Amino acid sequence: MAEVLAAVAGYLLGSVPFGVLITRALGLGDLRAIGSGNIGATNVLRTGNKGAALATLLLDGGKGAAAVLLARCWGGEAAALAAGGAAFLGHLFPVWLGFRGGKGVATFLGTALALFWPVGLIACGLWLASAAITRVSSLSALVAAAGAPVAALAFGLRGLAAVLALMAILVFIRHAANIRRIAAGTEPRIGRRA
Ligand code: G3P
Repeated sequence: MAEVLAAVAGYLLGSVPFGVLITRALGLGDLRAIGSGNIGATNVLRTGNKGAALATLLLDGGKGAAAVLLARCWGGEAAALAAGGAAFLGHLFPVWLGFRGGKGVATFLGTALALFWPVGLIACGLWLASAAITRVSSLSALVAAAGAPVAALAFGLRGLAAVLALMAILVFIRHAANIRRIAAGTEPRIGRRA
């Protein structure tokens, strides 16, 4: 029962579309009509407002981490896992936006950091290293998402690896258009318009 309640609370928290709220509050327009139309920090950066992009990154990551940490305090590790997975799903399918949400990268990283910080740190490191080399946010997200379950397996955490693998599959599905552009060599670099 604790897991179900944690999942519901995690889902509602994960559903909060910080990128949309921040860009609207700053008068930057409707994020879904800008660049790629995605509600994440990479697309907020395309408005030219770096502070708004950083705030979106931290809040989208923070909501995943907060869901995990609060659920862990209240219901233990299984509740933490349920809340983290549900927060990630909330970002992808937010009730507040008619279930049309984002690609889940920041929330994936925040959730992974809170579930088992060494794995989260490795995923963040993979994102940063890939971004430094390629300057392509989506490609870096795919590298980080693929690496996280592998890192969890390396630590012998099979349950965590399974959850992260399911989340990573959803990240890949959400990046279908990005993957096509990467293959075609037309994916914009960080900060450039899609
Ligand atoms: O975090 C989302 C990123 O991987 C891709 O975003 O806006 O370039 O499709 P975007």
